[in-house]
Amino acid sequence: MQSQSNVHLVAPCGQLDANAEQLISRFQLALVDATEHDLHLLWQDGKLQLVQQSQPKQAGILVDFLGAAATYRRKQVSIKQELIARAVGCKNNIRPVVLDATAGLGRDSLVLASVGCKVVMLERNRAVAALLSDGLRRLQQAEQSAWAKNFIGLYNASLLSTQRDFLAKLPRIDTVYLDPMYPHKKKSAAVKKEMKAFQGFVGADEDADALLPAAIELCRSRVVVKRPDYAEYLNKQKPDFSLESKKHRFDVYLKHS
Ligand SMILES: C[S@@+](CC[C@H](N)C(=O)[O-])C[C@H]1O[C@@H](n2cnc3c(N)ncnc32)[C@H](O)[C@@H]1O
Repeated sequence: MQSQSNVHLVAPCGQLDANAEQLISRFQLALVDATEHDLHLLWQDGKLQLVQQSQPKQAGILVDFLGAAATYRRKQVSIKQELIARAVGCKNNIRPVVLDATAGLGRDSLVLASVGCKVVMLERNRAVAALLSDGLRRLQQAEQSAWAKNFIGLYNASLLSTQRDFLAKLPRIDTVYLDPMYPHKKKSAAVKKEMKAFQGFVGADEDADALLPAAIELCRSRVVVKRPDYAEYLNKQKPDFSLESKKHRFDVYLKHS
């Protein structure tokens, strides 16, 4: 895992603009002309991306809620088809307010917002939170539809932090959704090279077990944990029930109080 103390951002000559400057200030990125960090942020053509210097041909990682893959994914979603939607508690006209407490690159948040849930995202890694923030800005500048407005907050923070003043700013949270990094089996070579780089950048979420009690305390209704099908329960805690797909499991913990 790369240290978060100094997240380097390279912006080629003439590329820097007000949007980049906002990200630099909000996420305390270090603007440099060149960097010795293999993985670093790059501001180019008005977009923020995570790039790997040693792999110049590899595509950069960016959050693009309007790109072809995201649009295709979004157009396919329905609460009948999406286990994640049923797991978080979507039913008939009910759409819970969800805190995606391990937001990553926002792919699961995109599905939740697309089915009509209001979504607040938490991401503790500064570089990843900056990528998400940039993706959200581009989305909300281009798109005024209801699903785009369903993203109602993004915080560079952790439920496990001792400084939890962001909690006071949260709306009512029905469901907390958790998808911490899980070490992949050797067999899963299907993970794309770029995603391997992302996983190497963020590192294993070794403190993930502690998220479950914190999430149960915060939610009003339930906690949902996404796990690979072969993984043990988070915090070794048996859920109330699980919804299973081919590769994943959504373990659902109902709030009993
Ligand atoms: C597997 S990725 C999540 C992928 C995400 N569900 C998606 O659809 O893109 C896990 C992410 O959770 C973040 N994370 C892990 N523990 C966290 C915590 N305690 N608070 C906030 N973010 C956390 C990691 O930095 C990483 O970006």
